[in-house]
Amino acid sequence: MELSNVEESSSVLNLESVTVILGGEKVVNSISLSVESGEWLSIIGPNGSGKSSLLRAIAGLVSSTGNIVFDSIDLSQLAPKQRAQTISIVPQIPVVPPRVKVLDYILLGRTPYLGRGFQPTKEDLTYVLSVVENLDLENVVERYVTEMSGGERQRVIIARALVQQPKILLLDEPTTALDLGHQQEVLELVDKQRQDLGLTVISAFHDLTLASQYGTSMALLVDGVVTNSGIASEVITEDSLKDIYGAKVSIYRDGETLSVVPKRQEGPRTKLE
Ligand SMILES: Nc1ncnc2c1ncn2[C@@H]1O[C@H](COP(=O)(O)OP(=O)(O)O)[C@@H](O)[C@H]1O
Ligand SMILES: [Mg+2]
Repeated sequence: MELSNVEESSSVLNLESVTVILGGEKVVNSISLSVESGEWLSIIGPNGSGKSSLLRAIAGLVSSTGNIVFDSIDLSQLAPKQRAQTISIVPQIPVVPPRVKVLDYILLGRTPYLGRGFQPTKEDLTYVLSVVENLDLENVVERYVTEMSGGERQRVIIARALVQQPKILLLDEPTTALDLGHQQEVLELVDKQRQDLGLTVISAFHDLTLASQYGTSMALLVDGVVTNSGIASEVITEDSLKDIYGAKVSIYRDGETLSVVPKRQEGPRTKLE
């Protein structure tokens, strides 16, 4: 009896045979996986393997077949407001509206919590400002979102997703435009929310080192199919990366922490005469 109570209190995102067809191809091909609350699943895989399509299917941005169930609720059955309180996505290529200032844009993330007048409360504003501060955005809140560097804009989009206070956060290659310091800052902030609030995180990663250092588990996607999943050291090996990415790498292990470094073919580097 007690055991079943424990199970019920922990939220699980379950994907059952999720398939996405684009251009007549199954770009996500019957994927089943399960992510518990407080877990961070890193999805890796070569370009075109279906990472973005899978995340978009979970977010309901592309039509899919199969079941996507969170906390025993079919996500496709949720009303838009409930859905927005449950799940938010930071897309790989975000579309930002013109003539909207950073603070107003981030405040949009609070929309699913606002009352009838759609006026943010003091609490909404305080929360938004704390996220703004954590992401080093204080100095740009009055700027237009369209008039920022790629890295600043990426942080603004992430801020909006975080102030939405979702239970599931989907990140599609969230750090590609960020410098090293901001990569760590953003990922640490997400990780803090994961640990403090039991946020479920699923992120596609281009950078295999970050994928392994932040994910509590990993899934390797190839041609729309999960070919390998588990902890980082099982999924990321010299052989799997050579076979799947066609990449020569060295993998350095420091306890549970992996670093993946590209390795150039040996040979003398000579100047052109
Ligand atoms: N709108 C679309 N129409 C047809 N094919 C698409 C569309 N969007 C993506 N694809 C194809 O789906 C496959 C998976 O793409 P994507 O999910 O973006 O992969 P990844 O994020 O892993 O790079 C690719 O072969 C891509 O060309
Ligand atoms: Mg992608």
